[in-house]
Amino acid sequence: MKALVLAGGTGSRLRPFTYSGAKQLLPIANKPVLFYALESLAAAGVRDVGIVVGTHGPAIRELTGDGGGFGLRITYLPQPRPLGLAHAVLIARDFLGDDDFLLYLGDNYVPGGVTELTRGASAPAAARLLVTRVPDPSAFGVAEVDAGGRVLALEEKPDTPRSDLALIGVYAFSPAVHEAVRAIGPSARGELEITHAIQWLIDQGHPVHATVTTRPWRDTGSVEDMLEVNREVLDVLEGGVEGKVDPGSTLVGRVRVAEGAVVRGSRVVGPVVIGAGAVVSNSSVGPYTSIGEDCRVADSAIEYSVLLRGARIEGAVRIEASLIGRGAVVGQAPHPPQAHRLVLGDHSKVHLTS
Ligand code: DAU
Repeated sequence: MKALVLAGGTGSRLRPFTYSGAKQLLPIANKPVLFYALESLAAAGVRDVGIVVGTHGPAIRELTGDGGGFGLRITYLPQPRPLGLAHAVLIARDFLGDDDFLLYLGDNYVPGGVTELTRGASAPAAARLLVTRVPDPSAFGVAEVDAGGRVLALEEKPDTPRSDLALIGVYAFSPAVHEAVRAIGPSARGELEITHAIQWLIDQGHPVHATVTTRPWRDTGSVEDMLEVNREVLDVLEGGVEGKVDPGSTLVGRVRVAEGAVVRGSRVVGPVVIGAGAVVSNSSVGPYTSIGEDCRVADSAIEYSVLLRGARIEGAVRIEASLIGRGAVVGQAPHPPQAHRLVLGDHSKVHLTS
């Protein structure tokens, strides 16, 4: 079975990060979201993976290469514009051939693997879906499923959802889907929706099945989602110190200090990861915090946050619930009149306490 991983799109809810990088490369516990998907596919026995990429394709390709590091063979499929999930399937026609395949949304974090979709089904189906109960179904594709697991109808982000079963971003398809993605037209938001393609299959009498799962799946589409997924992954993190921790520091709970990282005069309350080359000094870090590679945290307190590679936090009394971009600097003004001095990219957000 092949897999098609979608790593294009605009990531508008994750601006400003998505101006300069792919949302699928944002880190969870210091590892890009996309890597969890690729590892999960390899663990399920998939070998041939097509990755649909948009404007940030080169950065993705640089990190994932030919896939050998994951035990995969990766083919890159450029999508000229993000015209929808079904459009991504449309442009992957030659790569997919007439095989069954998995469609995996590269910004979805699906712990527990995808073997229930790769193992094959007891009854033939044109599409097999994973669905889960959510409190806010109108933010997702929503399925109506009968007691036997047969999908009766689907809607994409409905105002009035017909159930609380959201579509998780991993789907198994037979080649019948190729006719479906050609048959549908754009949705109100101007995209070819995979949800509409599956509805087309149902309308044509093809069997479509869904498995209701209770696993803690997440779409990492917003900053709040990113921080939550980071918390969940850190919660099952194994600690371990490979870097240097001086005697003036205290580590509490599960803390991973990567080789080449330094912790001095600080208190770190796990779960926390500190990436290679990072230096944490005279600070309080954690819980639920990922410090990326080559970051600097000095004379500061930070919790429930993610710092991307090379970010610097200096003299910050207390930072929480924050996602801080690559090479971003948070520090004290050099001459302290009581004023904030900010250099912020488009769509940045700052919440001041005074
Ligand atoms: O997360 C699950 C939800 O994902 C499902 O419940 C919805 O039914 C499904 O439509 C999808 O909704 P989103 O609005 O969250 O999809 P998003 O635009 O975030 O795109 C999902 C992934 O696909 C993301 O990694 C970006 C990539 N993508 C997206 C588009 C529109 C592409 O590669 N090409 C595209 O044209």
